[in-house]
Amino acid sequence: MAERIRVMLTEQEVNEKIREIGRQISRDYEGRQVHLVCVLKGGSFFMCELAKRITVPVSLDFMSVSSYGSETKSSGVVRIVKDLDEPLKDRDVIVVEDIVDSGRTLSYLMDMLKDRGPKSLRLCTLLDKPDRRVVDVHVDYTGFQIPDEFVVGYGLDYDQKYRNLPYIGVVEFDG
Ligand code: IMP
Ligand code: MG
Repeated sequence: MAERIRVMLTEQEVNEKIREIGRQISRDYEGRQVHLVCVLKGGSFFMCELAKRITVPVSLDFMSVSSYGSETKSSGVVRIVKDLDEPLKDRDVIVVEDIVDSGRTLSYLMDMLKDRGPKSLRLCTLLDKPDRRVVDVHVDYTGFQIPDEFVVGYGLDYDQKYRNLPYIGVVEFDG
C-alpha cells in the first residue's frame, strides 16, 4: 500500500508557534532556570527548537519510555527504557512531548516524575488530540489542538519513518 503525506501544519506555522511558546515560557520562568525533560524519540525535534527560543537559562535531560500494549493503543503502563541522567529534586521541570493522544503515557509519566520531588513540574506538548483523551492529563503549554488523524513529522513517526519532516503531515494510504 502506497503512502502519501498531506500537509496539516506547515514548517512556518510550526516554527512560529514554537517561537510563541518559547516567549511564553521565558516570561513565566523569568529569574529562574528551566530543566527540560525530553521524551524520546518524538519530543526531540520540538525540544531542540523550543530550547533555542527560551531566553532564561536552560538545562536538558532525556528519557525514553515504551508503553506496554499494541502499536496503536497504549496501555498506560510505562516501562522506562532510558532513565534521566540527573535528579529532578528542587528543579523547575518542563516535560516536552510531541503529542498527547489518549493521555495514558503522560499521565503515568507525570505521576512518576512528580514523585522525584521537582520544585515545579509542567507539561508542554507540540500537538494535542483532545478527542482521543481517555485519561485526564493537565497540559500547561500546547502548540496545536488537532483532529483525530494520524500525523507524522517534527519527531512523530509512522513505523519509524517521517520523523525528519520539517512540518506536520497526515499519512494517507492509496488503494
Ligand atoms: P498516549 O499515551 O495515547 O497519549 O500516547 C502518546 C504517544 O503515542 C505519543 O508520544 C506518540 O509516540 C504516539 N502517538 C499518538 N498519536 C500519534 C500520531 O498521530 N502520530 C504518531 N505518533 C502518535
Ligand atoms: Mg511521544
